[in-house]
Amino acid sequence: LWPVIAIDGPSASGKGSVAERVAKAFGFHYLDSGALYRLLAYAAYTQSVSWSDAAKLAVIVPSMDIRFEGGEVFLNGEHVSVHIRSEQMGKGASEVAVHPEVRTALLQTQRNFRKAPGLVGDGRDIGSVIFPDAALKVFLTAGVETRAQRRYDQLISRGDTADYETILEDLRQRDLRDTQRSSAPLKQLPDAMLVDTTKMNIVEAVDMIVEAFKK
Ligand code: CDP
Repeated sequence: LWPVIAIDGPSASGKGSVAERVAKAFGFHYLDSGALYRLLAYAAYTQSVSWSDAAKLAVIVPSMDIRFEGGEVFLNGEHVSVHIRSEQMGKGASEVAVHPEVRTALLQTQRNFRKAPGLVGDGRDIGSVIFPDAALKVFLTAGVETRAQRRYDQLISRGDTADYETILEDLRQRDLRDTQRSSAPLKQLPDAMLVDTTKMNIVEAVDMIVEAFKK
């Protein structure tokens, strides 16, 4: 079996950027599991299926043809990167993700990304349920204000409008929902290495993980 590096942590902790760079460092594949939940939220939205309808959502999953190409995401041939990155679809993702039926439906989809020479996966339960045998598990976090500031900078840098206080409040609510939900709550696994990036930049975080994997 090809090695897996599993990275989890709260919303806007930089999981995606860090995971992608760690993958690049080793020439591994990269699985953005959050994108799968965002894709499902988006597919449901376009088909007028409610994010609370677990049974219908689970039926949509096998009908989704998902392709990641050069950092872009395609759903059934449609380029959807921009659509799924919205705050609305982030909220949708966290709503569809609470249903055990949905998580089960997406289990194999995620395992299929484990290919030669290895995989870096980020997201909830990637190190507990999807790849419990991961060679390295990382819990990547940062203080909520730091995360809000990074999300704000990210939105501004791509030309979106953003309000820091709103983002901070949204993140606090997302943290609460993610840590308190019954299926796949956010928590640090006992065998995961803690990487707190409150006072660390992305390059330092990546280096720390790369070094830990080499050992
Ligand atoms: O950074 P953020 O967590 O907001 O974005 P994301 O990684 O794209 O994931 C969106 C939402 O999907 C998360 O807030 C989680 O609620 C959910 N999710 C999940 O439940 N399990 C995963 N493996 C990945 C994402």
